[in-house]
Amino acid sequence: MERCKRMVDLGRRRFLQGGAIAAAGAAAAATLPREAKAQAAMARVEYPSNRLANVADLKVNEPLEVAYPDKDAPGVLIKLGRQVEGGAGPEGDIVGFTTVCPHKGFPLAYNPDDRTLNCPGHYSRFDCEAGGLEIWGQATQNLPQYTLRVDDNGDVFAEGLDELLYGRLSNVL
Ligand code: FES
Repeated sequence: MERCKRMVDLGRRRFLQGGAIAAAGAAAAATLPREAKAQAAMARVEYPSNRLANVADLKVNEPLEVAYPDKDAPGVLIKLGRQVEGGAGPEGDIVGFTTVCPHKGFPLAYNPDDRTLNCPGHYSRFDCEAGGLEIWGQATQNLPQYTLRVDDNGDVFAEGLDELLYGRLSNVL
């Protein structure tokens, strides 16, 4: 009988210890979002504001080769000829994208017929009129798009990217 009572006490102690550990875990989890936000803020990069072209350099549906945020990051500017979400310039139709496939880094080619950037590696396709949305293929992210600004002189500046470039831990080295 005494042995049985000791076992009940032992069980109760373990139950209470388990509760304390669970409470400590919940408290730690409650603080996690704040730390995660701080880490995310530290991970942000400062993008350069780079002049890539002038609107006069752009012809409708003909990609202009550029590089951003540095010379080792090839991309294109495309004047689509109709306003699109995120488009810059007087007509809201100028967009810019990396031309390095986010799947495994193959160079993308522009198809003017359906305004997509296409990968010869494993056939991923990205819609330039829909913010680089992946519409087919194996990439696990959409195509990084430039944040563009056009000034009063028609100069087109890139000032950011909305996704991580392939092969980089940061978009700015
Ligand atoms: S490298 Fe482009 S789909 Fe694989």
